[in-house]
Amino acid sequence: MTFSKDALAGQHIVISGGAGAIGLGLVKKLTDHGAVMTVNDLLPEDAALARFAAAEVNLSQMHYVRADLTQKSEVERLIDSAVARFGGVHTALCHAAVVKTGRLLDVTVEDWDRVMAVNLRAAMLLAQISIQQMLDRHIKGHVIFTTSWVAETPWPDIGPYHTSKAGMNQLMRGFARELAASGIRANAIAPGIVGAGMAKKQWDNEPDYRARAQKAIPLGYLQEVDSVADAFLFLCSPAAAYMTGSVLTVDGGCSLYPMD
Ligand SMILES: NC(=O)c1ccc[n+]([C@@H]2O[C@H](COP(=O)([O-])OP(=O)(O)OC[C@H]3O[C@@H](n4cnc5c(N)ncnc54)[C@H](O)[C@@H]3O)[C@@H](O)[C@H]2O)c1
Repeated sequence: MTFSKDALAGQHIVISGGAGAIGLGLVKKLTDHGAVMTVNDLLPEDAALARFAAAEVNLSQMHYVRADLTQKSEVERLIDSAVARFGGVHTALCHAAVVKTGRLLDVTVEDWDRVMAVNLRAAMLLAQISIQQMLDRHIKGHVIFTTSWVAETPWPDIGPYHTSKAGMNQLMRGFARELAASGIRANAIAPGIVGAGMAKKQWDNEPDYRARAQKAIPLGYLQEVDSVADAFLFLCSPAAAYMTGSVLTVDGGCSLYPMD
């Protein structure tokens, strides 16, 4: 996809979980198109910056904040730090997530709570606190949630994860409806099975997962990080200005298939 290199000029974007496999590709793509970004993750700053430098991200366009966003005070610190570095936040990407594998019948309370705390609570807090600073500054901003095709099509052995992503889609719709009159939009992007990050770990380590995944992608190949990044570039750009309350599914057709 080709967008002009200044497609996102003047835009300040915050991302949670931005030092992960897909996050790295998003930060590269969005800064390459003119955005400045406040990037959050759990990694120590040195390690995170080394990762971004290796990916040839222009470090002068980004600000890194290490924080665990399951804690409200940490999300507040993130947004305060973002505003202090680059001014008001225009777009918040609620992107951090974790997955725990196993049957729903066996899931522990600890694993259930961790998945919900990262995938739903942290996303809600980042959206809520980002939107409040948008309202305070009269910014007609945008919140984008990273969901997944499995929000609609349950995938075996990741019950808490796909449940959290279904909740996230509805959380997004709730924010979209509540904030539309203020000109603040909310949308989601639902990737497919990406050849990086959490899916790649399962692909590499779990033969059953790999066998199933090989049959589940109608287009026939794993999704590239760049394909996810292109969807974010579109959604962050003025080309998507009339979208709110939508899930942009970019999954190679995965959600067309009932699982066997
Ligand atoms: N990999 C895939 O196939 C795939 C498919 C669909 C959707 N997704 C979604 O894309 C996003 C990124 O996934 P990924 O595959 O790059 O995984 P990843 O594990 O590489 O990245 C997730 C990042 O979130 C960070 N994180 C976890 N808990 C956090 C917390 N409490 N506070 C701040 N950061 C935290 C992790 O440190 C990690 O860097 C997730 O939302 C995931 O659900 C991934």
